[in-house]
Amino acid sequence: MLKIKLFADGANLDDMLAAYQGGVVQGFTTNPTLMRRAGVMDYESFAREVLEIIPDRPISFEVFADDFETMYRQALQINTWGENVYVKIPITNTKGESAVPLIKRLVGDGIKLNVTAILTLEQVQATNRVLSPMIPSVVSVFAGRIADTGIDPVPLMTAAAQMLRIESKAELLWASPREVLNVYQADACGCDIITATNDILKKLSMFGKDLDELSRETVQMFYDDARKAGFQIEC
Ligand code: G3P
Repeated sequence: MLKIKLFADGANLDDMLAAYQGGVVQGFTTNPTLMRRAGVMDYESFAREVLEIIPDRPISFEVFADDFETMYRQALQINTWGENVYVKIPITNTKGESAVPLIKRLVGDGIKLNVTAILTLEQVQATNRVLSPMIPSVVSVFAGRIADTGIDPVPLMTAAAQMLRIESKAELLWASPREVLNVYQADACGCDIITATNDILKKLSMFGKDLDELSRETVQMFYDDARKAGFQIEC
């Protein structure tokens, strides 16, 4: 039985609505890249439309300025859009300057944050020090991007979970999953949340499936496709 919460990561309104109504996810995350890919033209109108249909589950919207003063003002604004909103703050700006002072300031204002684009344990620790157990917050570590570099993210995620449990009580989110196995890895290493794409959500029903049966179904797929294609070999 999985303890971990599943959040849908995306910005397609129909998919978000289906995930909400299907009850398969407990929350949602977005980011500017996903919104652009989904063809969103007006950031605030999109966010408000999403919040109309999803008023009662955590959902993150990210600031997108690059100077900390404008990020601060965007965060205050985004925070007013709904009770269930978490403001996503990238751990640095594009110059690699730390957003920790900004995070500290926003926590002081009582704003629920999702600190994002984290890839190192040092970043987790610096964030952990300024978040408060009194204010709900999420720490998003891009485990899939860590794995993309050839590093196993599991030891880092395990250490991050222990770190956050002791100090800030922030929820640890395994971001950028690459395969269904990551859901089980994230659960086992103490993550509170994992974001999942639609493909991953669909495959969760395969849990515990008999491998002999899966092998037979795979062969059936080859057979059916060869027939449908009308392949012939003279023999
Ligand atoms: O929310 C984070 C996620 O969308 C990033 O995924 O696959 O670009 O690393 P990816």
